[in-house]
Amino acid sequence: MDLSTTIAGVRFPTCLMNASGALCVTKAELEALGQSRSGAIVTKSMTPAFRQGNPEPRYYSFPGGSINSMGLPNLGYPAYADIIPTLQTFGKPVIASIAGLSPPDFLEAARAITAVSPDLIEVNLSCPNIAGKPQIGYDVEASRALLLELKKIVTVPMGVKLPPYFDPVHYEITARMLLDVKVDFMTVINSVGNGLVVDPEEERVVIKPRYGFGGLGGAMIKPVALANVRAFWKLIGDSIPIIGTGGVVSGTDMFEHILCGAKAVQIGTALVDEGVGVFQRLEKELGELLQRKGYASLSDCRGRLQEL
Ligand code: DHB
Repeated sequence: MDLSTTIAGVRFPTCLMNASGALCVTKAELEALGQSRSGAIVTKSMTPAFRQGNPEPRYYSFPGGSINSMGLPNLGYPAYADIIPTLQTFGKPVIASIAGLSPPDFLEAARAITAVSPDLIEVNLSCPNIAGKPQIGYDVEASRALLLELKKIVTVPMGVKLPPYFDPVHYEITARMLLDVKVDFMTVINSVGNGLVVDPEEERVVIKPRYGFGGLGGAMIKPVALANVRAFWKLIGDSIPIIGTGGVVSGTDMFEHILCGAKAVQIGTALVDEGVGVFQRLEKELGELLQRKGYASLSDCRGRLQEL
């Protein structure tokens, strides 16, 4: 079964890849993604300088999903600029995720990373774990202004990683802004921000930073992710390709994202739980499911979710 896909003119050998943040901070982790069946190598969101991140424990996985407050631990963009040319020898797209604590941080990272020509740049508008910093993705005019500045600098296809939205008006104003700015792809969704997981036996929170509050991922967020993929696909169609992210644990979960309109799917919590072998398992599960249903390709079912 051909599971390849094309996003913003870039061909991906398979339509599944890691989500930014999951096993993609160090050179060794990024190279392991290169050697795996992941259809791309997505970097951790990078900031101008190295960051240790928040104190541990800062990631916790449980049967329904995960919670994290990593605090943007990353090597800093100069290190990723050095690594990216090596990553490009693995024969799959390299997606550089850029972030920042302020707009100038994003612009600085974008300038340096554009110079080494990753295949795509994913602008992270949705980091929920920095104390005192609201997610820029929840401010549509601030997002527009930042993206317009970035567009002047970035010469490779540039997309956005969005937080989940919960209100139809937010889908509409965000979709309009993304169409105005002409972003090349959108990754939907980042973790569901500022959840709280409680250990009732110990009577305490499960991660240390920020009083235990953190971004939720994994199986529990799938309906939120599917709603966001579907809502944006209905508003934007194929003019901005969508990478679906959130709650993918099985080939069936991938299929659901594709039915909602996703052209590719990213794996976060399941990758951290299972390691890079997850890609082979999911690829097999999706291939078998499509075959059983009689689909010859992704384009035969993509977006074709039926309504009652
Ligand atoms: C972190 C978490 C995110 O969801 C994100 O988009 C970027 C960074 C973090 O805590 O490291």
